[in-house]
Amino acid sequence: MSTLQPKTIYLRDYQPPAWLIDQVALDFDLYEDYAIVTATLTLQRNPAATVMEDLVLMGEELELLSLLLDGKPCPVTRYTLTTTQLTLLAPPSRCVVTTKARIYPHTNKALSGLYQSGGNFCTQCEPEGFRRITWFLDRPDVMTLFTTKITADKARYPYLLSNGNRFAEGELTDGRHWVQWQDPFKKPSYLFALVAGDLDCREDFFVTQSGRRIVLQIYVDKGYQAQTAHAMQAVKKAMRWDEVRFGREYDLNIYMIVAVGDFNMGAMENKGLNIFNTKYILASPQSASDRDYINIESVIAHEYFHNWSGNRVTCRDWFQLSLKEGLTIYRDQEFTADTTSRTVERIDAVDYLRSAQFAEDASPMAHPIRPDSFVEINNFYTNTVYNKGAEVIRMIATLVGEANFRKGMDLYFSRHDGSAVTTEEFVCAHEEASKIDLQQFRLWYTQAGTPVLHVTDHYDAAKQIYTLTLRQSCPATPGQADKKPFHIPIVMGLLDQAGHELQAALLQLKETENNFVFSGISEQPIPSLLREFSAPVRLEYAYTDDALALLLRHDTDPFNQREAGFQLTVNTLLRMVQAYREGEAMTVPQSLLDALQYVFRNQPDKWLLARMLSLPSEKYLAGLMRVVDVDSIHVARETLLTEVARFLQEDMLAFWQQHRDVPFVFDVPTIAARAAKNMCLDYLMQLGVDEYQRLGLQQFQLALGKDMTDTSAALAALVNVPGEMRDTALEAYYQQWQDNALALDKWFALQASAKLPGTGEHVKALLQHPAFDIKNPNKVYALMGSFTANAIHFHAIDGSGYQLLTDTVLTIDRFNPQVAARMLKPMVEWRNYDEARQQLMCQQLQRIAAEKKISPDVFELVNKSLTIQMASRA
Ligand code: TRP
Ligand code: ZN
Repeated sequence: MSTLQPKTIYLRDYQPPAWLIDQVALDFDLYEDYAIVTATLTLQRNPAATVMEDLVLMGEELELLSLLLDGKPCPVTRYTLTTTQLTLLAPPSRCVVTTKARIYPHTNKALSGLYQSGGNFCTQCEPEGFRRITWFLDRPDVMTLFTTKITADKARYPYLLSNGNRFAEGELTDGRHWVQWQDPFKKPSYLFALVAGDLDCREDFFVTQSGRRIVLQIYVDKGYQAQTAHAMQAVKKAMRWDEVRFGREYDLNIYMIVAVGDFNMGAMENKGLNIFNTKYILASPQSASDRDYINIESVIAHEYFHNWSGNRVTCRDWFQLSLKEGLTIYRDQEFTADTTSRTVERIDAVDYLRSAQFAEDASPMAHPIRPDSFVEINNFYTNTVYNKGAEVIRMIATLVGEANFRKGMDLYFSRHDGSAVTTEEFVCAHEEASKIDLQQFRLWYTQAGTPVLHVTDHYDAAKQIYTLTLRQSCPATPGQADKKPFHIPIVMGLLDQAGHELQAALLQLKETENNFVFSGISEQPIPSLLREFSAPVRLEYAYTDDALALLLRHDTDPFNQREAGFQLTVNTLLRMVQAYREGEAMTVPQSLLDALQYVFRNQPDKWLLARMLSLPSEKYLAGLMRVVDVDSIHVARETLLTEVARFLQEDMLAFWQQHRDVPFVFDVPTIAARAAKNMCLDYLMQLGVDEYQRLGLQQFQLALGKDMTDTSAALAALVNVPGEMRDTALEAYYQQWQDNALALDKWFALQASAKLPGTGEHVKALLQHPAFDIKNPNKVYALMGSFTANAIHFHAIDGSGYQLLTDTVLTIDRFNPQVAARMLKPMVEWRNYDEARQQLMCQQLQRIAAEKKISPDVFELVNKSLTIQMASRA
């Protein structure tokens, strides 16, 4: 590789900081084409550090204007400056360092540090963006008291915001004004935030459980205030829930949220001043779908919950990222479960985990939820750290039980409030509170890979004894050839042949293999295993289709009812894939169609019904094959969709007609009805029959500008109808929404998701569309993210999909490495494909490697993809 190899950082090299920063005073002078940042750091040597070290401050893309040591100009002999560090040579043990820097927010397209979005200033500091604002000990274990003064033109930037409480403001004679903020809580630099702009604000308040009145403010671009009502409700809902469920109360007197259109991720939990992607704030029934409404609630809850799980108790270093992210995902999942549907929330979380995280765990980027090395920390904001991390917390809750879990959380928060800790402290708190030994359980933090749980059973009719044999294994992952057995909680039950539950239990597998014996069992039972997906493993048990059909109808755990149906379709699809590969006819067993019809006619919960009738994704199926056969998976799945639609079309048509006009209300029954209705429409349109396609167009036209759930559902099906209908719908949608960035993202995404031939070419053309903006992450994720998820087109056998992605990644890498690396991730899994595709992907990866200048972010992915040989999949 032609680039200088960026260096790998290891957890084992962790050292406490040599210096501490007691307080920092920041002074921002904001102008149209630059900003001046003056930082005054009050420092002392860390009494806990052993060696006397120079003071090494991190700083990137900063122009040094002046440097003072204890108020006097620092002589050039007393410091050194590189592109990443400012080193003060042997300063006094207590000192005050003042730096003055010039930075260029308006040309910052990496969206890290201080940048402009929609004409306003905002910041993103996690994980290492603060060093792009000023020189600092930019690491989470250095916690500091911040005061911030912001000065800017008053007309252009009437609002000047930062963390904590506003304590002074004033006007200058030249049309500029200033505001000073003070954050009473010590915090690491990654939680710093600043916003300056001309915004609309919705204000409300919340009275905490102890009676304190908190001012709530949501800031958005001018003209969008009406679209913040739902977000404000969500804030209040989240605040109350955290008090009730976790006893956590908000601490400052004001809680502000600012929504910006240019943002690399979903949102950021900066102390008292969260910054959000507009996608997770703005909503109106006309322009946002039910899914958007739910996502908004869950992201708002997530960032709010971070105030305790992340801010009050933060991470010692970035290897501990899951300490806050896994825990906060767990908390937001529980919030969504409590406030919408527990079963649907769990199904969606598990589907996502098993398609996205399992794939990551089987790739050259596989890492434990607490990684032990990285090149670029931005590459480790992953499904593993976040979503598998949440599963690990969930397993602790299962093992210790609800009451102990709450005790453990209380102990964790009270013991570590105001400090920066590791996952070890988290586990210790739960061990102490529950008196349950979690020694072996800790392996979930350090071992990567998805364990396989092999289950066999034996029934002894004479003794009335049923024995389950549980065996675990875990595939090798980079740097970890052999794994020790995990401590796995298996929630399960036994059903008799009539579907009655005989027993329920929590089994704990700790060895490689263990028998579990059930006595007094009067007939051969059917096991319902891994209820509510009690551990993030691949379950292997040779269920007969009959057993699955029985669980589907009778399991007392609704999650496993759906799981049984899901496995039934998986089995069928894998058989169909096999048949198609061998040139044989693909057949759909009548028993599967009957089972789905049974569900359709008998499931009273329509949301669950929609989930139970949705087929496993191509991505999930791909994860089950040693060599992914893109085309066969697609053909098999499309065929099954058609067969199910054919069999259920009368039921589905009737259902669609009954529910064609569900008025918009944000509540579960309405969301459920719309979800089921749109599932029906999707199946009906799969039949390629004119009559049904006209229903789709009719729904689309009636809903356009009124109800985004129905609009986008219809359009998602219409984009697969070749010809005039598709063009008419896309054009009408564009006319309706050309000025709404978020609604246009859906327009791009749906076109990139189309199954029709020519989709790759079409995506390429859309990259040049005037409404597309490669600098805007939402646009890139919508268009290119949807394209890479569209397997038949992204993996086109002529390699055009890989070429298009690579061109785009290289372009983006020049200004936004984080987004470039995120987009490249699907290519990391190249070894899972057939030889022809392997070669094509490998060529593109090598093309990137040969580039003169690539970011450490992209370098790490390409390097790991090309050098790490994965053990072949089972
Ligand atoms: N901490 C954020 C969260 O709640 C993650 C995040 C937001 C982030 N913006 C980022 C991470 C930019 C890396 C880069 O999940
Ligand atoms: Zn988070």
